[in-house]
Parts: sequence; C-alpha cells; structure tokens
Amino acid sequence: MTDQTTDVRDHWTRTGTLGRIDAVLTELGHDPEHVTPDILASVEHLHSGGLKTTQDQAQRLSLGPETRVLDIGCGIGGPARYLAANFGCQIHGVDLTPEMIETGQILTERCGLSDKITLQVGDARDLAFPDASFDVVWCQNVTMNIPDKVGFLAGVHRVLKPGGIFTSTEFSTGPGGEMIFPVMWAYDASMSFLDTEDQMRAQFDAAGFRIREWINYTDEVIDWLKQMGKPDNKLTTQLVFGDDTAMRAKNGARNMEEKRTIYWIIVVERA
Ligand SMILES: C[S@@+](CC[C@H](N)C(=O)[O-])C[C@H]1O[C@@H](n2cnc3c(N)ncnc32)[C@H](O)[C@@H]1O
Repeated sequence: MTDQTTDVRDHWTRTGTLGRIDAVLTELGHDPEHVTPDILASVEHLHSGGLKTTQDQAQRLSLGPETRVLDIGCGIGGPARYLAANFGCQIHGVDLTPEMIETGQILTERCGLSDKITLQVGDARDLAFPDASFDVVWCQNVTMNIPDKVGFLAGVHRVLKPGGIFTSTEFSTGPGGEMIFPVMWAYDASMSFLDTEDQMRAQFDAAGFRIREWINYTDEVIDWLKQMGKPDNKLTTQLVFGDDTAMRAKNGARNMEEKRTIYWIIVVERA
C-alpha cells in the first residue's frame, strides 16, 4: 500500500457513516432497511451538483440494460444505484476507501439492486479488469486526488471497449489564482492535483480519446452549493464527509466564484 493510498483512504474515511445515515432516515420516518435511490438521493451523490449532475451526465449517454458500466471512485454507490434503477445498467463500482464500499454494499442490498451492482475496493490507478470490458466508464470527482493523470487515462482506455464512452466530472485550475484550502478533496495542496483546462484536453487527446462534450458546469454547481446549506435538510453528504463539510464546501464555492477552479462535465469516446 503506497503512502498516497493511505492518505486518500484516511481523508475519505469517517467511521460510522451508515449509522449516521440510518439515524437520520429513522428520524425522518423512513425504515432504513427499505429505502430507494429517491429517498437516499440527497446523501449519496458525493460530487459537486449532487443528483442533478448525475442526471445531466447520464442523459448525454446511451444507457440500457445491456450497458456494462465501470464507476471509478464510486463512493457509497449513489450514482451506480441511480444508473441501475433508471436505465437497468450492469455496474461495477470500485473505490479506494473501504468505509465507502461497505456502506455502499449495504445500501445497494437494501435498495434491492444487488443483482445489477457490484461494489468492491479497488484503485483507479490499477484497474483490475480485463481489456475492453466496459461500454461506459464513469467517474465523478475523483481525479483531483490522482497525480498521474496519464497513467489513469491509459487504464480507462484499456478497460473500455473500442468506441466506448468515458465520462467524468473534474476540476481544473482557473485563471483566478491559487486555490483556497481546505476543500472537499484535500485539506492542503499535498493531496490536490489539478491541471489547467489545456493540459487536461491534451492528456485526453494523448491517451487516445476523442472529445464529444466538454461542458463548463461551474455556475450550476455554485447555485447548488447555495441550496445545500438549507437548515431543513438533514439527510446530506455531511453524514459521509464529516462536520466540517459546510466550511470546505464554502471554500469550494469561493474557489469557483473567483475562478480559481473550474468544474467540468466531460464526455469522450475511445477512438
Ligand atoms: C468525492 S467522492 C466521489 C464519490 C462518487 N464518485 C460520487 O460522486 O458519489 C471521491 C471518492 O474517490 C475515491 N478515490 C480517490 N482516489 C481514488 C483512487 N485512486 N481509486 C479509487 N477511488 C479513489 C475516494 O475514496 C472517494 O470515495
């Protein structure tokens, strides 16, 4: 296990995630053993823009029961459950953080989606799947923790079928100056690896991807972050990310408003 693996796992581990989710579900009058992706939506999409980003990304793809999807850095499996419940896709999710996977496996079981979704601990930098196994590779808010984008993209390219689609949500640096920390993915610069938009485009190109859509989604996310702090919503990602979520999200909003970072939805094709 590399030091970076340990650092990333420690960063994303908040022991007792499922217990906190269950307590709030019970408080809101739900039976935690019988939930649906709709009930869990506000807590299980662990990326900028939440469910709306997942929906916007999914509607840009052609998805159905025959589509084999790999979700890299799947978190607690919320996006996987959305794709399985709405499109019937078969999904493998991998994530470096065991707490995320264990929580995700139980929620998937409770949603009755275990026949369509397999979640396992795995590393985006070393994908343990045969060549050309997937029609779609999906990845939301993960690459900020990955320094070697070239190696990562080579792995994605390898596991995709020819003509397959890779879609990701990622931050680039912006023209507004140095990022303010802490943010959701890092407390300081040692775990944050953002490039410029031009560098990102060049990396996708060099890895053998043809860009289909490259969407600046920053304004949508800023609007979403403003809604997030509403006091009446208790079933939030704070249960997964920890008590300092609001402070880190506020820094994230400021980074985007001041154009220190830019948030992208990216859809590319394996050429
Ligand atoms: C912001 S969360 C996003 C989770 C999920 N994609 C979602 O949107 O709901 C980032 C996730 O990336 C995972 N991650 C970071 N580096 C990883 C790596 N090298 N391999 C696999 N997962 C990684 C973390 O463990 C964490 O669960």
